[in-house]
Amino acid sequence: MFTPPKPFIPSEPLALRPFLRTIRTNALSAWPEAVYDLPVIRRSLLGRVNYVLNEPDAIHRVLVDNPSNYRRSPASVRILRPITGQGLLLAEGDVWRLQRRTVAPALAPRMMPLLTRHIVATTDEAMNALKDRIDGPVNLLETMQNLTLEIAGRSMFSLEIAQYGGEMRRLLTEYGEHHARPSMLDLLLPPSIPTPGDFGRRRFQKRWMALIEAIMRDRLAAEPPDLARDLFDLLRAARDPETGAGFSPDQLRDQVATLILAGHETTAVSLFWALTLLAQDPDEQQKLADDPNTRTRAVLNETLRLFPAAYLIVREAIGPDRAGTLDIGRRDLIMIAPWILHRHRTLWRDPDVFDPARFLPDAPQPPRFSYMPFGAGPRICVGAQFALTEATIVLAAFIERFSLSLESPRPVLPVGIVTTQPDHHPAFRLKLR
Ligand code: HEM
Repeated sequence: MFTPPKPFIPSEPLALRPFLRTIRTNALSAWPEAVYDLPVIRRSLLGRVNYVLNEPDAIHRVLVDNPSNYRRSPASVRILRPITGQGLLLAEGDVWRLQRRTVAPALAPRMMPLLTRHIVATTDEAMNALKDRIDGPVNLLETMQNLTLEIAGRSMFSLEIAQYGGEMRRLLTEYGEHHARPSMLDLLLPPSIPTPGDFGRRRFQKRWMALIEAIMRDRLAAEPPDLARDLFDLLRAARDPETGAGFSPDQLRDQVATLILAGHETTAVSLFWALTLLAQDPDEQQKLADDPNTRTRAVLNETLRLFPAAYLIVREAIGPDRAGTLDIGRRDLIMIAPWILHRHRTLWRDPDVFDPARFLPDAPQPPRFSYMPFGAGPRICVGAQFALTEATIVLAAFIERFSLSLESPRPVLPVGIVTTQPDHHPAFRLKLR
């Protein structure tokens, strides 16, 4: 059995300065060993109470039972707003409800057969292109990012967005390096008061949204050949049931930005981690190749356990609440971290071991709220079905054609910055099966 390398985990809680430094470089190293054993950790930081919740009743209260008492934290809003604007990810209240009601049906399980057609065709093209690369090293992170971006463009917007892929990746890389790392002021001040970092973020937002507008102009100019309406049509046609109002042009653009971003980056990185795990575990790779129908989904579920793309869900309490045995105060910060829950020592046997058999059909169910790569409650990931359908198709297509290994023994370590990224882009070597 294979245990993937882990990031540095401090033995004791970090003092304020190292903590602030660590959340800017790798949030996965910000929590001490104890969080993987205890049900709740409470700590005061910068004048606010912070909780890390690993306790099912408390998690249920915050995400499922009383979600309207909790909103996204100031730092999350600051970091996500430049790339998602007022789209579904950050919307709150009635605006969120309308957006969610519009987007969810287009990504519901019954839409998967329609979307599958685009996914299979795009994946086949990408796999054929990879066949020409079997003699040299391959960057599979980039390959997966390009593929999932193309799938998102074609299936949601009937649009080939490959021509924009390079520019989009350049902007997202710049974003991750310069704007996505929260400073102390980013954590301290409410989102309505701009911090020094926010000025750079606003300038970035203008450039990013200009790119999204260019993509939308292409989409409006093209009459999709398909009679079936795509997500873009559904968004344009959406009306508030009470006021009859549709999305404004800016709102529509923000929604498109949100869905393109949330719809490809997380899936790309999840596929990357699945392939990285398999490259280091030849036995598991062979088992998957021998029985893809049973094992593909199990490998993906286990990958999302060990390397959850969304490693942290944060909420700010709007008012006081009782969650499980905890008395939550107004403005307290609640952290529900798939990264921690999925490696918690009281919830999982051998938590750090890569063992897809945990998710085979006859395996016992994991304890309640111990496994939540897509969140829970009304704000659960709206694209979860789409992501799983897509990742299953891509992983199965890959393993059917290629066996893979890593070129270098250098460990590939996870880094938490917005999503769970690798610390470097490792080179892979592919062989035809
Ligand atoms: C493996 C891939 C993915 C993972 C791990 C993932 C994870 C998550 C998580 C944990 C949340 C909840 C955040 C919270 O409660 O604060 C979320 C929300 C969301 N996801 Fe995903 N996601 C994935 C793929 C996708 C895809 C493919 C789409 C779109 C097609 C998408 C669109 C969204 C949107 C719009 C939200 C906000 C929903 C709302 O607030 O109502 N995600 N995602």
